[in-house]
Amino acid sequence: MRTQQDAVVGWRCAVCGTMVDVATPYPFTCPRSSPADRRHVLHPVVEPAANGELLDDPNPLVAYGPRMGWWAFGASHGLAEPVLVEVARDVGTGFEVTPFGAHDLDLRRGAPETVWVKDETGNVGGSHKSRHLAGILLHLRIAETIGLATGGRRTLAIASCGNAAIAAATLARRAEWPLRVFVPEWAPAGVLALIESLGAEVEVCPRRDDDPPGDPAMLRFREAVSGGALPFTVQGPENALCLDAGRTIGWEIADAVGAPGGPPVVDRVVVQVGGGALAACVGWGLGPRIRLDTVQTQGCAPLARAWWRARDAGYDSDQLPGRWAELMVPWDRPQSIADGILDDETYDWLADFAVMEASGGNPIVVPEEAVVDAVRVAASTGIEVSATGSAAVAALLVADGQPGPGETVAVIFSGVERGRGERSDGA
Ligand SMILES: Cc1ncc(COP(=O)(O)O)c(C=O)c1O
Ligand SMILES: [Zn+2]
Repeated sequence: MRTQQDAVVGWRCAVCGTMVDVATPYPFTCPRSSPADRRHVLHPVVEPAANGELLDDPNPLVAYGPRMGWWAFGASHGLAEPVLVEVARDVGTGFEVTPFGAHDLDLRRGAPETVWVKDETGNVGGSHKSRHLAGILLHLRIAETIGLATGGRRTLAIASCGNAAIAAATLARRAEWPLRVFVPEWAPAGVLALIESLGAEVEVCPRRDDDPPGDPAMLRFREAVSGGALPFTVQGPENALCLDAGRTIGWEIADAVGAPGGPPVVDRVVVQVGGGALAACVGWGLGPRIRLDTVQTQGCAPLARAWWRARDAGYDSDQLPGRWAELMVPWDRPQSIADGILDDETYDWLADFAVMEASGGNPIVVPEEAVVDAVRVAASTGIEVSATGSAAVAALLVADGQPGPGETVAVIFSGVERGRGERSDGA
């Protein structure tokens, strides 16, 4: 029986330090975040748990329930374990511990090398994104259960035309919750058709003459949220609750170490970064004893650029939040076949910095040739995975990221290729 090592006791803004009680409904953003200053982000505050045991259940949303914020939210309002478990089972239908297996990969160094692959391609909605979103939905369902859901089932909103939107539409349909999906003009038609077939309302967002700089889909999403929609999104500063159940992937990897069929040890996990929520959650879930490296492509590497700028300037970690505008600058014209990680800003950069610093990890930047090569190497596993979802393999092909002698490395495969859009904005 695994024991519950920790629990969420509240939320704390990584920028201004404002605390939000764990009993607060809808703790999406820092109370000091405003349209004029969105550079705030709530992070879960985690403390060692007294003596709890994790639930013995094949569904990770149930098994790890007591370690999560939505559980603590419900418990703080008096909900008993069986009620919390029932909500988790319902929201979490179809979630299982995903496969974690050893594969001998040709990393172009002569002999094949063993790499552990966490395979999220068969997860709900075809990627790990559903983990992040399930945590939001769990909170919303708990709020409903205790009578705190202001305004009833308010429409959910997301800006995405990729795996996150597919996961959002899958979960929203199941929960019978309305969803608006804001997409850019270049969104791939196949993905839009899939999202619509799942019952979500797709809204194509051309740039308007009076729009400020930035992604018009994101602007429309924010307008919808200020109009009362609930942010159903995988970006911590837009909704911190995505950083809650996302950690299950890190816990699953950590718990596989030393277990039957698992690796005796994992020294390092390499995670592909777009908005940065995945790397944050993996790092928090693994804990500091397993090194976490991030990977971005040469065509879009705002996290790595911020990291090296901070190093050059000699900033220590306490100074980073105050330097958000200076360090996390939007990338001009992001470009790569790994099109799911082309976020021009790494929204969750503060958490990514924290997990890399705590574990001795680094950001790795890979040339496009390595991304192309990684697609072929990933295909040799027999797992059908997108270029985005195999991007961490690219890091193992370059000098900065190649496995050291005897080092056990793990990567996450997520999402299948669904066709690319033609960007009309020239990016
Ligand atoms: C397959 C896949 N891997 C990794 C990522 C990166 O996740 P994040 O945006 O949380 O950094 C994404 C989405 O952005 C994705 O679709
Ligand atoms: Zn704040």
